[in-house]
Amino acid sequence: MIVDLRSDTVTKPTKGMLEAMMTAEVGDDVFGEDPSVKELEHKCASMLGMDAAIFCPSGTMTNQIGIKILTQPYDEVICYKGSHIYKYEGGGVAGNSLASVRLLDGSRGRLSVEEVGANVNNTQDVHQPVSSVVSLENTVVREAGSFYYLKDIAVISEFARSKGLNMHLDGARFFNALTETGDKAVDYGKYFDSISICLSKGLGAPVGSVLACKREVEPKARRMRKAFGGGMRQAGFLAAAGIYALNNNIARLKDDHVRAAKLEKALSNANWVKSIMPVDTNIVIFSVIDKVTPEQALAKLSEHDIKAIKFGAQEIRLVTHLDFDDRMLEKTVDVIKKISF
Ligand SMILES: Cc1ncc(COP(=O)(O)O)c(C=O)c1O
Repeated sequence: MIVDLRSDTVTKPTKGMLEAMMTAEVGDDVFGEDPSVKELEHKCASMLGMDAAIFCPSGTMTNQIGIKILTQPYDEVICYKGSHIYKYEGGGVAGNSLASVRLLDGSRGRLSVEEVGANVNNTQDVHQPVSSVVSLENTVVREAGSFYYLKDIAVISEFARSKGLNMHLDGARFFNALTETGDKAVDYGKYFDSISICLSKGLGAPVGSVLACKREVEPKARRMRKAFGGGMRQAGFLAAAGIYALNNNIARLKDDHVRAAKLEKALSNANWVKSIMPVDTNIVIFSVIDKVTPEQALAKLSEHDIKAIKFGAQEIRLVTHLDFDDRMLEKTVDVIKKISF
């Protein structure tokens, strides 16, 4: 039994999802003729309380389009220093939007209104780039899936807008956050100008992300999707997987969180583990003791067919997901106990 905890992107479509894909009604979406894509886009826009939504191949693309439609060249994007849009999107913000980033420390990746306020530039000063977007990540992948409450986002959003800034959300694991906060997806729309959600992470679809946005920027977002090479043809097969994921796989995210907490507990008793970040959702990040390297620990896990990834100089990351069940959890806990150096 192979246990793959490298990411929640490793899931394979279930029988039910495959059936939904096989029976999807499709058309050429570049001609605007794919009914399944349209259904997914309408569903996401209304779920998120936004006017419009566009289906894209990846979360990187939805983030990049979101930033692009909300900035002009020479602008500045305010975000957490470990945010995905900055660290893991290949320099896309610089290349695609010709924008700089203002990197904030945050508290476990969450920005506060005070920190944002202290980093908005003076638009009258030609020396300074124009601060034009605050980009939040929820949950924060670099910080073991920490999450925001909507009430804290509301304060940031109201402040940002009072200064003329736009709001983007990287919600790759948006529903993991809602699972813990109980906030409603539909209430998010009013606080953001663009929201990216991923269908291919905890929700278990094989491919796909959606960018929800305001009506006035939708044409630009669709143009940018085309320019970035994200216009897809009979994409309804994939959209059907996304619809299935939204209908069936949100409620079960709590199981992933419970299993992640059990992994955290097992690691906290292991003498080869130095420290563990608090586990809030489905991501576990821990560091190994000084005399051990992550590579050595990964090799030991791998001897038992458990896959994880290095996530820093001394860190390892485990992510729970749809294809990680209780049997696998039991095995992993057992192996964590057994490992010694
Ligand atoms: C927080 C976050 N945002 C965006 C992405 C990008 O998603 P994709 O891999 O579909 O480009 C990821 C991927 O892991 C992510 O963790």
